[in-house]
Amino acid sequence: MTQKTERLKDILAQARAEVGKVIIGQGEVIDRALICIFTGQHALVEGVPGVAKTLLVRTLAHVLGCEFSRIQFTPDLMPADIIGTNIFNLQRNEFILVKGPIFTSFLLADEINRAPAKTQSALLQAMQERLVTIDRETHPLSPNFTVFATQNPIEYEGTYPLPEAQKDRFMLKISMNAPERDEELTLARRTLGADSPEATLASGAVKAVIGAEDLRTMREELGGITMRDELVAYGVELVRTTRANESVLVGAGPRATQSLLLAARAAAAMAGRDFVTPDDIKAMAGPVLEHRLILRPEFEIEGLSIAEVIRGILEQVAVPR
Ligand SMILES: Nc1ncnc2c1ncn2[C@@H]1O[C@H](COP(=O)(O)OP(=O)(O)OP(=O)(O)O)[C@@H](O)[C@H]1O
Ligand SMILES: [Mg+2]
Repeated sequence: MTQKTERLKDILAQARAEVGKVIIGQGEVIDRALICIFTGQHALVEGVPGVAKTLLVRTLAHVLGCEFSRIQFTPDLMPADIIGTNIFNLQRNEFILVKGPIFTSFLLADEINRAPAKTQSALLQAMQERLVTIDRETHPLSPNFTVFATQNPIEYEGTYPLPEAQKDRFMLKISMNAPERDEELTLARRTLGADSPEATLASGAVKAVIGAEDLRTMREELGGITMRDELVAYGVELVRTTRANESVLVGAGPRATQSLLLAARAAAAMAGRDFVTPDDIKAMAGPVLEHRLILRPEFEIEGLSIAEVIRGILEQVAVPR
């Protein structure tokens, strides 16, 4: 292992440990969030209320020395409410830019499906370009700008579910489940004691393992992790197979291929290796593909799930030796 990948491995391990002082369990979720951050991508976060979605993103920001903001999406939220606007200042007799909450590093976009399409689009465009345009003037966003978007899972009138084309902009879908019994017991005890998760985060016991300016170098170091060409072809084949599956109406596009390979490479780094294995790719197939596939209605009615389709595809495509 080279010195660089060794350092990457150390920092990832430290970040995981520091986040783990606040967030109980959820190891896979923490790893996936770190993968999105270290590859410079964005995540769709799903989970019932109260599973610590907000606390997770706040803690990650603290541990990686990044700024954090949250936007609650609502039906009356306008693009200017998130990107900002020029306001006329009477004293100075000029327009002054008031930057919106999007000018941050880690942005929690809560219940993104409650805002109308034009507001969602403003966010999605900013995610892609890391730029916003206000009155024809372009402003760069932080190079570490990372969106964690949650969707309100309860479908009710007045929500605007993200179209698949827009979900494609998110590298991974991260599902957060309720804690295991022993974890919930730990949470319960800590809540009654002096070391509740929030108190721990506020206490200074959680260290920042790097500063915001180090993230770029760490991203570059991922380039030192090797992936055999057979594995690249394996990833491509997995994604292409989604388009040929009889139960799939809309398969995953080429952005899914990019996401799968970049995520697998970061997963290898998380595991402390400087080379990618087939298992890294397999492990990322679910979180990369799940939000990008649409089932044919007749298969959906039969009760087939997207997770099952992905499992089938993983069995079908030959793994390189
Ligand atoms: N795995 C966990 N680790 C640490 N704290 C947890 C965990 N699960 C739940 N909690 C606790 O649950 C509370 C709710 O967390 P948080 O507000 O982050 O949830 P949320 O998923 O954002 O909820 P909502 O969907 O309502 O916004 C926090 O007080 C936190 O202490
Ligand atoms: Mg929340």
